[in-house]
This record gives sequence, C-alpha cells and structure tokens, in this order.
Amino acid sequence: MILETQGVSKFFGGLKAVNDVSLTIREGQIFGLIGPNGAGKTTFQNCIAGTFPPTQGSVRFKGRDITGYKAHRCCHQGMARTYQIVRSFPQMSVLENVMVGAVFGNHRKGETPEGKASEMLDYVEFPMAHDLQAQNLNTMQLKRLELARALASNCEFLLLDEVAAGLTPAELDDITALILRIRDSGVTILIVEHLMKLIMSVCDQIAVLNFGEKIADGTPAEITRDEGVAKAYLGADALLH
Ligand SMILES: Nc1ncnc2c1ncn2[C@@H]1O[C@H](COP(=O)(O)OP(=O)(O)O)[C@@H](O)[C@H]1O
Ligand SMILES: [Mg+2]
Repeated sequence: MILETQGVSKFFGGLKAVNDVSLTIREGQIFGLIGPNGAGKTTFQNCIAGTFPPTQGSVRFKGRDITGYKAHRCCHQGMARTYQIVRSFPQMSVLENVMVGAVFGNHRKGETPEGKASEMLDYVEFPMAHDLQAQNLNTMQLKRLELARALASNCEFLLLDEVAAGLTPAELDDITALILRIRDSGVTILIVEHLMKLIMSVCDQIAVLNFGEKIADGTPAEITRDEGVAKAYLGADALLH
C-alpha cells in the first residue's frame, strides 16, 4: 500500500464534508475518486496532501503516519498535486513556474531546477513554451504546466483534481494518454474526476463519495453495477453505462 486512510473525517462547523472515509491505494494504481458536486472529494484530497489536517482519522503514506503533516512535508514525502482551479504564478514564465516544483520538491543527484523543469515540459509535450508568461496560457496549456510542475518534484504519488474539466475532446485524449504515461513511469495516481469516460477507462480502482461518506469502492465494472452509486447520481446513472 502506498496510501491508507483510516476513518478520515473533516468537519466545517456542523458540516461533515468528509465523514469516516477509509481506503487503500496500491502502488502503481490509478485510483479514481468520484461523487456528485459537494461530495467532499477536494476536501478529502486536502486532508491527504496537508492543506489542513483531518478532524478525525489517520493517513499513512508509504507506511508512515503522516496525519497532520503540512503540505510542504507531504511534498517532501513524495506527494504532488494539481488543482481543480488551476494555480500558476501568472507573472512568471512557464519554465520558472515548473522550476518551483523542482526547487521545493525532492532533488535527485545531478539535477538542476532548470534542467529538470525543461525535461518535464518535454515530458508533458509542452516543449517550446519556456519563455511564455503563465498568464497568457489557455486551459490545456495551464494543465500541462501544472502537471510538469508537480512531476518536477520527483513525486511518487500524484493527486489530480478535475484535470480534464474544460477540455475539448481532442485535448481529453491527450490528457488521458499523458495520465497513463505518468502511471507507467511508476507514479501512483489519485484522480478526482467527473468525466465517467475518463474515469472508467483509466482507473484500476474507484471509490465513490456521497455527502462526505464512501458509499462504494471497487473496480470500474463493480462500480458500474452498483445500485447505490446510480442512485447517488440521481438519474445521471446513464453516465455510468
Ligand atoms: N474551507 C471550507 N470551509 C467550509 N466549507 C467547505 C470548505 N471546503 C469545502 N467546504 C464544503 O464541504 C463540502 C465538500 O466540498 P468539496 O470537498 O469541495 O466537494 P467536491 O470536491 O466533491 O465537489 C461542500 O459542502 C463545501 O461547500
Ligand atoms: Mg472538488
């Protein structure tokens, strides 16, 4: 197991945004986390990656209890992420944005931040963009930038939050191929996504959240057959078929 959560909950006042969620993610998997809007998916990722500590429960990463670790410590342990609302440093160049990931991540011997950033921009197929200002990028370019920045940290575990939102069908194919390539390079992925086509085609395992609670956990085929999951999507069950 690379990641194991036990009874993770996050309460905002009286709101149980995440409620008693236990799951395990095996090394090398693409693990999907799905559920209706407001189900607690982003909040759950925030509890894992150190944006804030869970109210209750524990998080183990590579066998170590990292519950309550701040984001920079999670990063040093080997986690990286991209955000539902893409975050760049708008006044900086693309190369500089990606260098941030290299500088604050885990260096390997012989790597320079600039060299690593350049290598990762090639990897995400965004090679000619070094000098562009981040504020001038379109959605797909920003997604590539975020992925390159995350990977520049030499992460072993990557959290993606709605990385496919707002993309055209062709861009969706590109990002799908890229996600699979990242997995094949040895990085374990936790992906939050609304697009069932993407989730069903790339995930090894899927957990479903509804009102903060995990209502199902299984392979894509098992999730597709699950009645509780279909109900949670209130008629949107057609999406699952
Ligand atoms: N920082 C916060 N403060 C208060 N409520 C929050 C905060 N973050 C999320 N929530 C609430 O928690 C619930 C789950 O939100 P979220 O994790 O963003 O859901 P999802 O990502 O599944 O759409 C929602 O009701 C949301 O309004
Ligand atoms: Mg969200």
